[in-house]
Amino acid sequence: MLSRLFIAPWLCFILISTAPAFQFSAYAADETEHTKASPYALGKKTPDGLGLYYFGREIAHYMTHVGAPWLDRPERDAEERPDLLLAALALKPGDIVADLGCGSGYFSWRLAQAVGPNGLVYGVEIQPEMLALLNAQMKNRQITNVIGIIGSTDNPHLPQSVDLAIMIDVYHECSRPAEYIAAVCRTLKPNGRLVLVEYRREDPQVPIKIIHKMTEAQIRLEMSVQQLEYVKTVKSLPRQHLIIFKKSPSRYTE
Ligand SMILES: C[S@@+](CC[C@H](N)C(=O)[O-])C[C@H]1O[C@@H](n2cnc3c(N)ncnc32)[C@H](O)[C@@H]1O
Repeated sequence: MLSRLFIAPWLCFILISTAPAFQFSAYAADETEHTKASPYALGKKTPDGLGLYYFGREIAHYMTHVGAPWLDRPERDAEERPDLLLAALALKPGDIVADLGCGSGYFSWRLAQAVGPNGLVYGVEIQPEMLALLNAQMKNRQITNVIGIIGSTDNPHLPQSVDLAIMIDVYHECSRPAEYIAAVCRTLKPNGRLVLVEYRREDPQVPIKIIHKMTEAQIRLEMSVQQLEYVKTVKSLPRQHLIIFKKSPSRYTE
């Protein structure tokens, strides 16, 4: 007992003094059974980040609803070309789409128009304030095939299978990306697609904080552990990668 009392402070000193070299489990305190398997690590916290790392990437803090006007800024159409993004998706009338992290609905109404009156868009958010903005925007635009859903950080809680799940400028801020994408994969239809749209980190000309940008290699690395197959990267957008994955039957276990 006495020897433990003496050793403990030394262990603490060693761990603290070498902290940058260590990767601590993020959920050790309350998820002991999950500790060894945790894919997350604590590390240096930067101003817009969580200090939580996944595959060596610091996860960004999510954008709060206070920033919503920026999502609907008039110049966004020219900066991001949503028309090109929609064209790249090649949606069919009647498709069921999940707009994960829909924000105020800048893309939701466009997706709803693309799938037509027999199609449906689930706008999923973790912030109720964003869903209120989504609903207001759909009402103003007289769009009736968008349904808002409150999801959790590890599961969008979609009520049915979808043809397409899309995350536009969202994935980099998911605080539980491993669990969230696994849950998304479970709700993709057999030929369903997951599309990630992220600002290009490789390109210093893209005027976005670095923590809110991702490289194509990083996205593909993080998706490689999921029940997904890489399909292609669309490079026609001015500032973003658009990376298409499809559900992998061979890796689908349920
Ligand atoms: C930068 S905004 C982008 C909004 C929208 N996709 C757009 O492009 O206009 C990111 C949004 O993702 C949401 N978000 C972050 N993590 C989420 C998660 N795990 N599930 C659902 N929404 C999430 C945030 O609440 C925020 O509204």
